[in-house]
Amino acid sequence: MSYFEDLLKKIESKTAHVGIVGLGYVGLPLAVEFAGAGFTVTGIDIDEKKVAALNRGESYIQDIPTAVLAPLVKAGKLKGATDFSSVAAMDTINICVPTPLRKTKDPDMSYIVNACQEIAKHFHPGMLVILESTTYPGTTNELMLPMFERADLKVGEHFFMCFSPERVDPGNANFQTRNIPKVVGGITPACTKIGAAFYRQALETVVPVGSTRVAEMVKLLENTFRMINIGLVNEMAMLCDRMGINVWEVIDAAATKPFGFMPFYPGPGLGGHCIPIDPFYLSWKTKQAGIEARFIELAGYVNGNMPHFVVDKIQNALNDHSKPVKGSHVHVLGVAYKREIDDVRESPALDIIHLLGKHGAKVTYSDPFVPHLRADGAVPEMAAIDVEQGTREADCVVIVTDHKNFDYPGIVERAKLIVDTRNALKGHQSPKIVRL
Ligand SMILES: NC(=O)c1ccc[n+]([C@@H]2O[C@H](COP(=O)([O-])OP(=O)(O)OC[C@H]3O[C@@H](n4cnc5c(N)ncnc54)[C@H](O)[C@@H]3O)[C@@H](O)[C@H]2O)c1
Repeated sequence: MSYFEDLLKKIESKTAHVGIVGLGYVGLPLAVEFAGAGFTVTGIDIDEKKVAALNRGESYIQDIPTAVLAPLVKAGKLKGATDFSSVAAMDTINICVPTPLRKTKDPDMSYIVNACQEIAKHFHPGMLVILESTTYPGTTNELMLPMFERADLKVGEHFFMCFSPERVDPGNANFQTRNIPKVVGGITPACTKIGAAFYRQALETVVPVGSTRVAEMVKLLENTFRMINIGLVNEMAMLCDRMGINVWEVIDAAATKPFGFMPFYPGPGLGGHCIPIDPFYLSWKTKQAGIEARFIELAGYVNGNMPHFVVDKIQNALNDHSKPVKGSHVHVLGVAYKREIDDVRESPALDIIHLLGKHGAKVTYSDPFVPHLRADGAVPEMAAIDVEQGTREADCVVIVTDHKNFDYPGIVERAKLIVDTRNALKGHQSPKIVRL
């Protein structure tokens, strides 16, 4: 039997031993889906705390209830490890490690390289390796493949390699790992076939594509599309502001067009691990090909300016109340990068806090999902304070993240002045509200 047939049989009978490397927002939900589908899954992470929590059956990812995770761990279907020796017994491996950008906006591939070096030590014929980390087109072929292929170990014959973009949207109650269509592209047609067969065992819809490069580019198109449209609407917000037009009303009315328009909303800036970062993978790579990704650079510039625009709004609003920013108390509502989640990575709230601090404001915050802010660059360590206290005591309240369970009528009642960057106070009419 060929390696292909042997692995396909193991996958279809769910006897394949599944490995997931990187147990974060992407890896843990994936591990849970495959364990839930009946596979034996081992997750590997260098973070001892995550592995220990997993092995105790405790979830540390908001979208994965402990009630779902614990029975899988108890049944021996899912376990965590910090070392890579278990790779020797694995049939498949999904790599879900971080892919940050360096300060210079160059991709930092070190996590992928480190994980692959460890996997390669225990790698054996008959394995399927799938990269899920978001990256530039060409990574799987150019960076990963050479770390595994040898003269006697040919991809598509002795082992299989794919890229599959991860589209998980933390906090989205309607779409989670299982029902988000999964795009997968292999280095060879056999790789694509086996990758697609693998995902079909646990996920609802699989979308095979012709190559790893296409699969890599799919993710970048999706996130670039979002980033550019947000950039456009943020610019629209600044233009409307200058002209005294309510941008939110404009968008709502435009969205009544039943075709050819999709509403995007302005805000305090881009946040999260994906939208602000991923498009720069593409612009970095296109530069090598001698062509500039001009939309990306422009949208990055507009979006990156939004925290400054918000701070200017706060400054002007305080000025209208005869107060300078220096010495004023500004209370930030919401520091997570979007509503209903606890993730502060790249959150514009951090920039806003930093800029306000630089201007001499006394800054406090409330966020039901983020009780503590760790010191991060220019932002000092902070603890959330009570919403009521913050809104009552502050000279200005700024809504940065529109979590659903903030008591908005109470906030409007108590606050002296509010800058609303999310239209969270839609329908509230008060002279103390300043909208983006
Ligand atoms: N979070 C999202 O919403 C999201 C959505 C789509 C795609 N992605 C992409 O998925 C990838 C993972 O993102 P994430 O949000 O899950 O990141 P994360 O930081 O939550 O998780 C990554 C995990 O990998 C571990 N890790 C780092 N180096 C390792 C190594 N050498 N070996 C084993 N484990 C290692 C870390 O300890 C961490 O637990 C990124 O490329 C990201 O761009 C993320």
